[in-house]
Amino acid sequence: MKLGVIPGDGTGPEVVGEALKVLDATGVAVERVAFHLGAERYLSTGDTLPDDELARLKSMDALLLGAVGDPRVPPGVLERDLLLRIRFELDQYVNLRPVVRYPGVRTLIPSHTEADVNFVVVRENSEGLYTGAGGFHRKGTAHEVAVQESINTRHGVERIVRYAFELASTRRRKLTLVHKTNVLTYAGDLYQRVVNEVGAADYPDVERDYVHVDAACIYFLDQPSRFDVIVTDNMFGDIVTDLGAMIQGGMGIAAGGNINPDGVSMFEPIGGTAPDHTGKGTINPLAAIGAMHMLLNELGETDAAIRVDAGIRFASSKLHSMRAGEMGFTTREVGDLVVEGMPS
Ligand code: IPM
Ligand code: MG
Repeated sequence: MKLGVIPGDGTGPEVVGEALKVLDATGVAVERVAFHLGAERYLSTGDTLPDDELARLKSMDALLLGAVGDPRVPPGVLERDLLLRIRFELDQYVNLRPVVRYPGVRTLIPSHTEADVNFVVVRENSEGLYTGAGGFHRKGTAHEVAVQESINTRHGVERIVRYAFELASTRRRKLTLVHKTNVLTYAGDLYQRVVNEVGAADYPDVERDYVHVDAACIYFLDQPSRFDVIVTDNMFGDIVTDLGAMIQGGMGIAAGGNINPDGVSMFEPIGGTAPDHTGKGTINPLAAIGAMHMLLNELGETDAAIRVDAGIRFASSKLHSMRAGEMGFTTREVGDLVVEGMPS
């Protein structure tokens, strides 16, 4: 098995180091291939993702990404030309983001229990507002027009909806479409019709629900137990999963996967590069270790994944906080705690 590792920028290399430590402790045999992509490469060479590097990425079995971004790089460059380019070129059309409250974790909502917060967001990851469609007209003038279009294809919507139904049928059998059908009457309508059609035809035993995206934000805080699997578009998924991370305990614990079920998937902590914490040993590696847990699951290494999850749960119950600098342990010590908590 070949694992492509993109440590990236800021605290990325530190958290990736702990995820790889945990991988080693599982005993799963993997060949690691390092990729030097991110701000340093861009600043010294001007390239973000050359074609030969992209081809090398495509030849891996899976990818682990730390984080990319740097205050010295103009906004959008690394996001669009590196992160989104990988997602699009590798057709990682599912952005899978579990929202799970681990044992002992304190969050901003003290009334939530572990049982309340246990759902998965299936975010469409290949189209919507993220395709870059649109443009300027009369830029810089008083009559400037900026158009940013949301692209939603039947093919794209159907494959994400099917993925979500399939997942729901292995869980508590409830699928909630989160959208804004009362205003986005074309894209929302397409999503709703596909959910109804696919559900009625192929997943009659999965309960279907619909929640507007603004109301979903209320329910994340007020009634998270109403969710099992959420399916939503790219932009709404981006936004609600940051709220999801907060009800898990923060960015320090939130992991995600960019999945191509028939290709190469990439797993990442969903937080950023945390420049203030870089090099200090204060960043929380649990999100990156959670990404490793998801990666092992995707590769069918189920036993190893179960052991890593047990390790994360052991560590989460010891940490004082999920927040960087407030964990009561260093980054490396948290990695060690996960290893210590892994059943043999
Ligand atoms: C995420 C991030 C990215 C996104 C950014 C960095 C382009 O916010 O993974 O959620 O919007 O998808
Ligand atoms: Mg985001």
